[in-house]
Amino acid sequence: MKALNVAMIGAGRMGQTHANVLKTLAQVRITDIVDFLPENAQKAADVLGARVSEEDEVLKNPDVDAVFITTPTPAHAESIKKAAKAGKAIFVEKPLAHTLEASAEVVEVVEKTGVPCQVGFMRRFDPAYFEVKKRLEAGELGKVENFRAISRDPYQPSLNYLKTSGGILVDMGIHDFDSARFFCGEVEEVYAIGTAVRDDSLKDHNLFNLAVATIRFKNGAVGTVENALNTSYGYEIVCDILGEKGKYHLQKKQQLNFEFWGDHGVSHDYPQYFDQRFPEAYANEVIAFAQNVSAGKPVGPTPKDALESSRLALAAQHSLESGKIIRVQEFGQ
Ligand SMILES: NC(=O)c1ccc[n+]([C@@H]2O[C@H](COP(=O)([O-])OP(=O)(O)OC[C@H]3O[C@@H](n4cnc5c(N)ncnc54)[C@H](O)[C@@H]3O)[C@@H](O)[C@H]2O)c1
Repeated sequence: MKALNVAMIGAGRMGQTHANVLKTLAQVRITDIVDFLPENAQKAADVLGARVSEEDEVLKNPDVDAVFITTPTPAHAESIKKAAKAGKAIFVEKPLAHTLEASAEVVEVVEKTGVPCQVGFMRRFDPAYFEVKKRLEAGELGKVENFRAISRDPYQPSLNYLKTSGGILVDMGIHDFDSARFFCGEVEEVYAIGTAVRDDSLKDHNLFNLAVATIRFKNGAVGTVENALNTSYGYEIVCDILGEKGKYHLQKKQQLNFEFWGDHGVSHDYPQYFDQRFPEAYANEVIAFAQNVSAGKPVGPTPKDALESSRLALAAQHSLESGKIIRVQEFGQ
C-alpha cells in the first residue's frame, strides 16, 4: 500500500476529529496544517508533529498526496477546485457548498480532473448503516415501502448561526436526506411543514425549530424526515426502513451499557451529541478514504452524490418556506 502524505486545511473541530484517526494509520503522515487562525494551526501542528503552511504552498508541493478540507462550508468549493486542479486526492466535509450552482461547478472540475474526492457523509460508514445497506441490496426486506429518518439536536444554536445556516432541513436534514437516497434511491417530490411554537424569535426570520418533510421516492416508496433543534434528553437519531418482509430499525439508545434500577423504576443514559452517536462512522470514513487512495481504488460518497443530497435538502427547505410541493429532479436545474 502506497504511503500517503496528507495536509489538513482547517484545524477546527472536524479537522481535529479526522486528524486523530489519520495519525493512527501506519501508511499516513500528516505533513502540513493550514488554518486562517495561526494559533489553531500552530496548536494542531505541535500536537501532530506537522508544519504550519499556506494552502497554495501545500497545493504546489508534489510531496503532498491528499488534502482534508475541514474549513467552514463557504470555503469548501474554491479549495476543492484548486486541490483537484493540483492533482491532490481530496476528503471534504459535507456539504460541498451552500448553493447547487457552486456544488455543480465542483462536480464538473472533480470529474474533469479525475482525482479521488470523498465527501463526509459519515453515516454511510456507521457499522449498522453499512450492514443494513448490504442486506437491502441482497433483497432481505423485499420491496421497500416506507423510509423514516429522525434527527433531533440536544440544544438550539444561536439566532445568528440559524440565520446563516441555510435552514433546519438543510443544516440538520442533509444527513437524513443523504440516508434516504443511500437506502431508497432518488426522490421524485418533497413537501415540508414546520413550526416554531416554542420560540417566537425564530418566526420573525421565517425559521423553524421543528420540521417534517414527506418524500415520494422514484421507486414508489414514501417516507418522512423529521428534524428538531432542541430536545432536553440528548442527540436522537432514528432511521426505519419498512418493507414486504419486515423492518430495519437503526437507533443507539444508550451511550454506556448500564441501567440504574431504583425506587423510581429503571433509567439509563442517552447519547448526547454526534461524537457519541457516530464515533465509528467518523473513523471508518477516514480509514476507507486513506486505504482506497493508497490502493488506487475509487472513493465515495462522491461530489455527485453530495450534489444530489444537497438538491433534496434544499428542495425540502424551499418547500418548508414556500408551502409548495417540489419536484426534486427539476429543482435548481
Ligand atoms: N459530518 C458531520 O457530521 C459534520 C459535523 C460538524 C461539522 N461538519 C462540517 O465540517 C465543516 C467544518 O466544521 P467545524 O465544526 O469543524 O468548524 P470549526 O469552526 O470548528 O473549524 C473550522 C476551522 O477552519 C478555519 N478556517 C476558516 N476559514 C478558513 C480558510 N478559508 N482557510 C483555512 N482555514 C480556515 C477556522 O479558523 C477553524 O479553525 C463544515 O463544513 C461543517 O458543515 C460536518
